[in-house]
Amino acid sequence: MFPFASKQTVLVAVAALALLCLQLPAVVRGQLQVGFYNTSCPNAESLVRQVVANAVANDSGIAAGLIRLHFHDCFVRGCDASVLLTSPNGTAERDAAPNNPSLRGFNVIDAAKAAVEQSCSRTVSCADILAFAARDSINITGNVSYQVPSGRRDGNVSLAQDALTFLPAPTLTAAQLVANFANKSLTAEEMVVLSGAHTIGRSFCGSFLTRIYNNTTPIVDSGLSPAYAALLQALCPTNTNSTVTTLMDVSTPTVLDNNYYKLLPLNLGLFFSDNQLRVNATLNASVNSFAANETLWKEKFVAAMIKMGNIEVLTGTQGQIRQNCSIVNNGSSSAAGIQQTPRATASLDEIATS
Ligand code: HEM
Ligand SMILES: *[C@@H]1O[C@H](CO)[C@@H](O)[C@H](O)[C@H]1NC(C)=O
Ligand SMILES: *[C@@H]1O[C@H](CO)[C@@H](O)[C@H](O)[C@H]1NC(C)=O
Ligand SMILES: *[C@@H]1O[C@H](CO)[C@@H](O)[C@H](O)[C@H]1NC(C)=O
Ligand SMILES: *[C@@H]1O[C@H](CO)[C@@H](O)[C@H](O)[C@H]1NC(C)=O
Ligand SMILES: *[C@@H]1O[C@H](CO)[C@@H](O)[C@H](O)[C@H]1NC(C)=O
Ligand SMILES: *[C@@H]1O[C@H](CO)[C@@H](O)[C@H](O)[C@H]1NC(C)=O
Ligand SMILES: *[C@@H]1O[C@H](CO)[C@@H](O)[C@H](O)[C@H]1NC(C)=O
Ligand SMILES: *[C@@H]1O[C@H](CO)[C@@H](O)[C@H](O)[C@H]1NC(C)=O
Ligand SMILES: *[C@@H]1O[C@H](CO)[C@@H](O)[C@H](O)[C@H]1NC(C)=O
Ligand SMILES: *[C@@H]1O[C@H](CO)[C@@H](O)[C@H](O)[C@H]1NC(C)=O
Ligand SMILES: *[C@@H]1O[C@H](CO)[C@@H](O)[C@H](O)[C@H]1NC(C)=O
Ligand SMILES: *[C@@H]1O[C@H](CO)[C@@H](O)[C@H](O)[C@H]1NC(C)=O
Repeated sequence: MFPFASKQTVLVAVAALALLCLQLPAVVRGQLQVGFYNTSCPNAESLVRQVVANAVANDSGIAAGLIRLHFHDCFVRGCDASVLLTSPNGTAERDAAPNNPSLRGFNVIDAAKAAVEQSCSRTVSCADILAFAARDSINITGNVSYQVPSGRRDGNVSLAQDALTFLPAPTLTAAQLVANFANKSLTAEEMVVLSGAHTIGRSFCGSFLTRIYNNTTPIVDSGLSPAYAALLQALCPTNTNSTVTTLMDVSTPTVLDNNYYKLLPLNLGLFFSDNQLRVNATLNASVNSFAANETLWKEKFVAAMIKMGNIEVLTGTQGQIRQNCSIVNNGSSSAAGIQQTPRATASLDEIATS
């Protein structure tokens, strides 16, 4: 390789190369950066924040919806806004059972995108808007502030089957939950930390029916308080396609606090998967420490959200900056089942003036 170079010279050259690599800008290394839109769209983050704040003021449950949208985006094909794409024949991620009809907040993302496009067109990705909106929702409901690394690009592909493959079901065991998150490079502790998001929001009956009915016979799953089970049975009749929802944190449903971890030992965790955090001694120890120290949980929650926001991201010239979050840009589709017809987006005024 270096026939005339001394060993020292080669070492110096290698060291210099290593140093050069370290000094390459984050964009070139394909990493996300805090303040990615500092110069290209300085208002981006505040515009998103304003739309989210107005939407949450109108409907506090929307904050939960926006946090979950980011999660469901990141676990399926990475944080590339694939969860927002629509399909004419019901074959996109959002049409899959784990997402439909429970995902909400699409119109808020559309309004945020419209506001950002008005200020700086074709600059800010839908994937970044999802990450900003989740952060803002956490800020508003949790009295927590953190900076979101950005520079994500939008993907072209959205398949219902991928949502079924990668999104964790509420029927998973502790070992399955750990494996599902490990598949996305998240640790067992991070799985417990992120599950704390279930301290806000709601659920349809279908996600916990097997804990309260065996076919049509009422039962009480071990790990579920009998009084709570009775309440849920009254709310959710068996074998009906119910549109009824119930709050996941019965005492502070709109506050992002550590109450989730306090409810679990009382057998008031709504899902089978929630209760699974109690049956494994390692996971249970995390639950106990977060129940005892809210500050600790919030620190770890923020760190885990940032890590989740890095899953399989597209950067640099990968993917595209989608113009309309629900469809890929003209002429760049590589998706099966995704049509190029524009879909009505919520008007900015609708949300901004509420
Ligand atoms: C650990 C595995 C997880 C499972 C099995 C799970 C399962 C579920 C289920 C079944 C629902 C209710 C869906 C319905 O309405 O029927 C739900 C709601 C929710 N999940 Fe999870 N989830 C998990 C992890 C997470 C993570 C990591 C986050 C975010 C960091 C999250 C945030 C939420 C939020 C905020 C809601 C409420 C959504 C709303 O009110 O619109 N979940 N989850
Ligand atoms: C954007 O500005 C903020 C605040 O000055 C700074 O912390 C951040 O590093 C900047 N990011 C970029 C990519 O310029
Ligand atoms: C918000 O958090 C700060 C610490 O970060 C704390 O001092 C303050 O009391 C909190 N406010 C509320 C309303 O919880
Ligand atoms: C919410 O975020 C804003 C902007 O980063 C920050 O100034 C504010 O302190 C945060 N609010 C709370 C309660 O942490
Ligand atoms: C892990 O990911 C692979 C593909 O990357 C997938 O086939 C497999 O089902 C995943 N396993 C779990 C437990 O999610
Ligand atoms: C449901 O009921 C059937 C028939 O009585 C019984 O064999 C089965 O073990 C029950 N399953 C559960 C999960 O309770
Ligand atoms: C079930 O309910 C959903 C709305 O929650 C509705 O779209 C769907 O058509 C219903 N299916 C049946 C078979 O009634
Ligand atoms: C609990 O979960 C941890 C982390 O996945 C695992 O290493 C351990 O074997 C589990 N313990 C039991 C008793 O299942
Ligand atoms: C979980 O923690 C509780 C303390 O809240 C303890 O009583 C229980 O034995 C623990 N369970 C497991 C499986 O470690
Ligand atoms: C709670 O956690 C915070 C953050 O890690 C730590 O600084 C604090 O000492 C903990 N409080 C107690 C009582 O352990
Ligand atoms: C999306 O399509 C464009 C144009 O065909 C292409 O440059 C880009 O790499 C594609 N992105 C993905 C994630 O497939
Ligand atoms: C969905 O419809 C598109 C055309 O609208 C078609 O190209 C695609 O093959 C369809 N996908 C499925 C799974 O039927
Ligand atoms: C306000 O929230 C309600 C649901 O609670 C929703 O139907 C309505 O569209 C929202 N309005 C705006 C302007 O976002």
